[in-house]
Amino acid sequence: MADQDTLPPSSRLLHWLVALFMLGLAGVGLYMSRSESWALYPWHKSLGVIALLFIALRLVQRLRLGLPEPVQPTSPALHRAARWAHGALLALTLLMPLSGMLFSGASGHGFGLFGLSLVPHQDDPARPGEVLPYNATLAELGQQAHHWLGYLLLALVALHVGAALKHHFIDRDRTLLRMLGRQAD
Ligand code: HEM
Ligand code: HEM
Repeated sequence: MADQDTLPPSSRLLHWLVALFMLGLAGVGLYMSRSESWALYPWHKSLGVIALLFIALRLVQRLRLGLPEPVQPTSPALHRAARWAHGALLALTLLMPLSGMLFSGASGHGFGLFGLSLVPHQDDPARPGEVLPYNATLAELGQQAHHWLGYLLLALVALHVGAALKHHFIDRDRTLLRMLGRQAD
């Protein structure tokens, strides 16, 4: 458990790095699927697989250190709500890349890391130019999960950013400054 005035640099680094990956990938994901920008798909998938590495590191760290304690005493109900919201955000950071990999893998489109194939593309011999799913049911599950969990993630992040701004501008406490690494006076 970190002390109440500071957060370990590695916690802050992982928070901002994973936040950047999640927001960037959500933006690219929404754009590429609506504009049918096929060239962006391999970038989205490769960066999503890389994000999983930092997400896993962060989860291991959270399991070891627990969630940060509030900067000042707060009502038990609010404390519980914040812990649930942070727990849900952590879970969604894991479920987003996993559902994306499930969809891309099971649908036969495949995915990899900048040209290095992890699950290969599978052509349909009966229909030239089309893909043959490895498992159509799992592909559908992965796609639906990736779509709806993506919206849930964005809604929770909006709430989360709103809460951070409330701490800073209304409560005028050190919650945001602590996550930014600013020392107490
Ligand atoms: C790591 C965090 C990730 C985030 C936050 C993210 C987010 C998103 C979002 C918001 C969409 C738009 C979904 C829609 O509107 O239906 C999307 C689409 C997509 N994502 Fe991800 N994604 C991530 C990782 C991955 C990974 C690792 C893969 C595969 C290896 C992947 C594969 C895809 C594919 C194939 C689509 C297009 C879906 C379609 O055309 O229906 N994503 N992503
Ligand atoms: C501009 C965007 C963001 C801001 C301003 C922000 C701000 C903060 C702040 C101030 C805290 C510390 C809360 C405390 O001390 O109790 C925090 C913690 C946390 N944030 Fe964010 N955040 C942002 C984006 C994100 C995103 C995109 C995610 C996940 C997808 C996320 C997930 C978390 C989690 C799980 C915690 C709990 C502590 C930890 O795991 O490091 N945040 N955030």
